[in-house]
Amino acid sequence: MTDNNISAEQAKREEDLVATVMASFENTPDPRLKEIMQKLVRHLHNFVRDVRLSESEWDKMIEFLTAVGHITDDRRQEFILLSDVLGISMQTVAVNNEAYGDATESTVFGPFFVDDAPLIEIGGDISGGAPGQPCWVEGRVTDTDGNPVSGARIEVWEADDDGFYDVQYSDGRTTARAHLFSDTEGKYAFWALTPTPYPIPHDGPVGKMLEATGRSPMRASHLHFMVTAPKLRRLVTHIFVAGDELLASDSVFGVKQSLVKQFHSQAGDVPTPGGRDVGGQPWSRVQFDIVLAPSTPEE
Ligand code: BEZ
Ligand code: FE
Repeated sequence: MTDNNISAEQAKREEDLVATVMASFENTPDPRLKEIMQKLVRHLHNFVRDVRLSESEWDKMIEFLTAVGHITDDRRQEFILLSDVLGISMQTVAVNNEAYGDATESTVFGPFFVDDAPLIEIGGDISGGAPGQPCWVEGRVTDTDGNPVSGARIEVWEADDDGFYDVQYSDGRTTARAHLFSDTEGKYAFWALTPTPYPIPHDGPVGKMLEATGRSPMRASHLHFMVTAPKLRRLVTHIFVAGDELLASDSVFGVKQSLVKQFHSQAGDVPTPGGRDVGGQPWSRVQFDIVLAPSTPEE
């Protein structure tokens, strides 16, 4: 008997099938595709053998993947969401963004980035009227030798206080997103909204899977960044709010300690950068210095 409590004869039958299916990819002209297909077969077969998958469980799995396909369209990508909640997106980020000196760490991209977000000046406001507490964000972009990176393109986007991104509304609004460029000293600053927690879309099959497994769809509060500059590695990341109780249970495993920042609360009568009138309401401020790694040759 093997570990799985099957006879040696049965184990051999199963292993022979793995070998036969792997061999069917032997003549794949592209060596990378060959490696991926053969290893995929090996890992998937090992999974089926390891859990001794029943035929009705296989049916359920197909039903689930079919539902994931059916709800996916131009606006909703349930496959990426599935990858996110299984930690596959973060594992791909880890494999492709090895630590380099003190370069800022990457995290998951998420589905809510939009090309062509409005351009704002340094000190401008990304909110576009979205509800939320004003938050002043400032910092410097440098390379790993500490040189300022001037003209870095900084894309920022976030959910509003109700927990929704603009693209989740059906009225075509553009809010809580923008891009700006760092100045000659690498400095940047803008007004945003103090991030608040929100659930990932959970009204589809991925949401049902989270519920069936006793998991929460909530993401820790965060503000998204994507920073690009010539000859430097593109950085896709977020900053998270220190003290947020969801930091340890982020539904897509995106939190990294180095990305958790102090958002300092300010009373409504504290003077604001640039003299912005916050109507006497509290606001917050955070500093995020960004360090970009050099790009690798194929980038
Ligand atoms: C987000 O942070 O916007 C996000 C990331 C992964 C899945 C859903 C949303
Ligand atoms: Fe997000």
